[in-house]
Amino acid sequence: MNRSHRHSIASAALVLLLGCSPAIAGLTRKHKVSPTPAPPATPHASSQLEDKKLNERVDALLAQMTLPEKIGQLSQFTAGSTITGPTGQKLDFDAMLPKGEIGSLFNVTGAKETNHYQHIAVEQSRLHIPLLFGLDVIHGHRTTFPVPLAMAASFDPDIVQQACRVAGTEARQDGINWVFSPMVDISRDARWGRIVESAGEDPYLGSAIARAYIRGYQQGDLSKSDSVAASVKHFAAYGAAEAGRDYNTTDMSEIRLRQVYLPPYKAAVDEGAATVMSAFNALNGVPETANPFTLTKILRKEWGFDGMVVSDYGAVGELMKHGIAGDGATAAQKALTAGVDMDMESNLYHSRLAGLVESGKVPMSVVDEAVRRVLRVKFAMGLFEHPYTDENLPPYQPTPEKRGLAKKAAEESFVLLKNEAVPGTGRLLPLASDLKSVALIGPLADDAEDMIGSWGAQGDAANTKTLRGALADKLGTKLTYVKGTDILSTDSSGFAAAVAAAKNADLVILALGEAGSMTGEASSRAHLTLPGNQQQLMQAVTAAGKPVVLVLFDGRPTAIPWAATHVPAILEAWFPGVEAGTALVSVLTGEVNPAGKLPVEFPYSVGQEPLYLAQLPTGRPAGDADLSHPPTNSEEKYLSRYIDAPNAPVYPFGWGLSYAQFTYSNVKIEHTGGTSKDVGEITVGVDVKNISSVPGVEVAQLYLHNTVASVSQPVRELKGFHRIFLQPGESQHVEFKLHFDDLAFYNVDVQRVVEPGTFDVYVGGSSKADKAGSFSVLE
Ligand code: BGC
Repeated sequence: MNRSHRHSIASAALVLLLGCSPAIAGLTRKHKVSPTPAPPATPHASSQLEDKKLNERVDALLAQMTLPEKIGQLSQFTAGSTITGPTGQKLDFDAMLPKGEIGSLFNVTGAKETNHYQHIAVEQSRLHIPLLFGLDVIHGHRTTFPVPLAMAASFDPDIVQQACRVAGTEARQDGINWVFSPMVDISRDARWGRIVESAGEDPYLGSAIARAYIRGYQQGDLSKSDSVAASVKHFAAYGAAEAGRDYNTTDMSEIRLRQVYLPPYKAAVDEGAATVMSAFNALNGVPETANPFTLTKILRKEWGFDGMVVSDYGAVGELMKHGIAGDGATAAQKALTAGVDMDMESNLYHSRLAGLVESGKVPMSVVDEAVRRVLRVKFAMGLFEHPYTDENLPPYQPTPEKRGLAKKAAEESFVLLKNEAVPGTGRLLPLASDLKSVALIGPLADDAEDMIGSWGAQGDAANTKTLRGALADKLGTKLTYVKGTDILSTDSSGFAAAVAAAKNADLVILALGEAGSMTGEASSRAHLTLPGNQQQLMQAVTAAGKPVVLVLFDGRPTAIPWAATHVPAILEAWFPGVEAGTALVSVLTGEVNPAGKLPVEFPYSVGQEPLYLAQLPTGRPAGDADLSHPPTNSEEKYLSRYIDAPNAPVYPFGWGLSYAQFTYSNVKIEHTGGTSKDVGEITVGVDVKNISSVPGVEVAQLYLHNTVASVSQPVRELKGFHRIFLQPGESQHVEFKLHFDDLAFYNVDVQRVVEPGTFDVYVGGSSKADKAGSFSVLE
């Protein structure tokens, strides 16, 4: 089918170099760095779904199917205890399967357990159609990796891909052939609990990470015995739920939808994602479970998606609560005709579709198309040939290789937010080797359960090393641990012991933050401060006068303006997974140099939300329109700003320090090639140098600002990044390549265009990068 690449609306364009910052002296060793994100892998799973022979098999099978058997393929039920919504139905799967009434089960894990159902489906049903077994494998299956938001902070699609490979292999050994991941919803509101499952606020980073997930799970070949089908969710724009409240409505212009929210889904579909999950929310009044605009017009027709769409949990039934269907039959009719092929858990396709087809309300052709989409995935996965899972595999072992990867992923995900010199002590991190005593204080210091974060799949807290455990291994009797308080407690009776421990120590490490269960589905928060009385604990301990390092655990940006001012060193740890403690110790001690960058902005206060870098300009900007400087005239009232809080975040997008120091020099902007009909290629080259005495990784970032266009464009947008390793004194030449897609936007006719105009370029180690120069696109 057609995969559209509609780039041809570009206005006749000629790119000219306008100017760039003066070259700064510096010896450089020039070598090219391969661009991240990597180009899509080939062959694609999508080409497997398009395969002629495969589709002939699908049609041949379809021709033999009765209506109840077809409806069976479109029906999915939860068969396990992990539920994420109301269930209430007690179905007898052993009796339904021989009749071909089920296409997929989810939440059942284990080779033996899944084989039980698969044997019935394959051996006792008339057409022997195998089942898909789905599960929320979100950040690892048995080996728990950092939560997805943390993985995105690595700015390292490769490690995301590797983690998904491990997760996919483990899931497959447990009988799971379909993972409900990746969640690629752009998330710009820290109140939304599901921000933890996302790659954050930015469509460019989000798209790179989305592609990596698909490559890791599907390996470009669904038929491999250790590939799992991915489910890109939640289509679409679930992350823009109003007020950050889960399941809430979403309302936005088509321009914003296409420019900001759709790109990561599109990237995943282009990478060959086999399935897509529709979202719970309504978009502009139409619930996504019954939205032909997104599911049919965009996904199927514009993007040429040949895989299948599954509803979210019970969402077909929820169309009645949304108020767009008066009864279950209408809900089923609306969902199926809009493009939801499989009904997850609402039981309405199973119970109502036959009647709808018989009464002529749903044409058989619509049912057939949905069944085709389900069968295509099953054939492409080779399930007809290999439906079962080997039950004799050795039990799961958290091998050193897997744990090593989980540790590396966690180390890459940590973001050093602050590391200031303390008088008489110098920078607190990495920890000085001659410390005689360290006090570790806080409710997250020795909490294995919460290191897993939300959606733990089959992850086991018993395998998890805490910060206390790992620090004790390193420091032995030099370490004192005091909990101080509980995550949500208001009881301050433990403060005195914490303050006493702080007074007796050379240095204090505070381990504070959220519980893992405070993020994820149905975990929106109206407050973004540290929960319980942890803020008071932090202030009491800091007042003891000893140098303090804050290690922050959370699944969203926490509002920490006080800590940002009063605590000299802050390490954002997220929920790091099974190797939490060991990874933290290697970064705290400097064995590993932190390099993570924020994929979301950290607010000063909840009132700033939704908060994100790529804001549109206003007519009354407070400060420079491009965010280079804060407001210049504090007397001026009539500006776009708060009277009681800054506009700026406490820590901006892309922010993250290192124990090394990097300089950027010799920026060159070149237009290489291109025609009058197309933008061609713009190359932004820069030399990045490690001027410190320790090796380190830097994530070099490029931002653009389209200064004048027919539709206002964001003040800064990420358009490229490179993760580079530099030895002390080493310099690398980094090149960013910009093409049509990087310059294009949607105009008022919702056409993707590049207009003549000037683009400012910013290159550096965060979104606060200095302007490096600009280039123009002429008529
Ligand atoms: C969530 C999905 C998840 C599904 C199945 C829903 O409540 O929104 O993300 O995949 O449950 O567990």
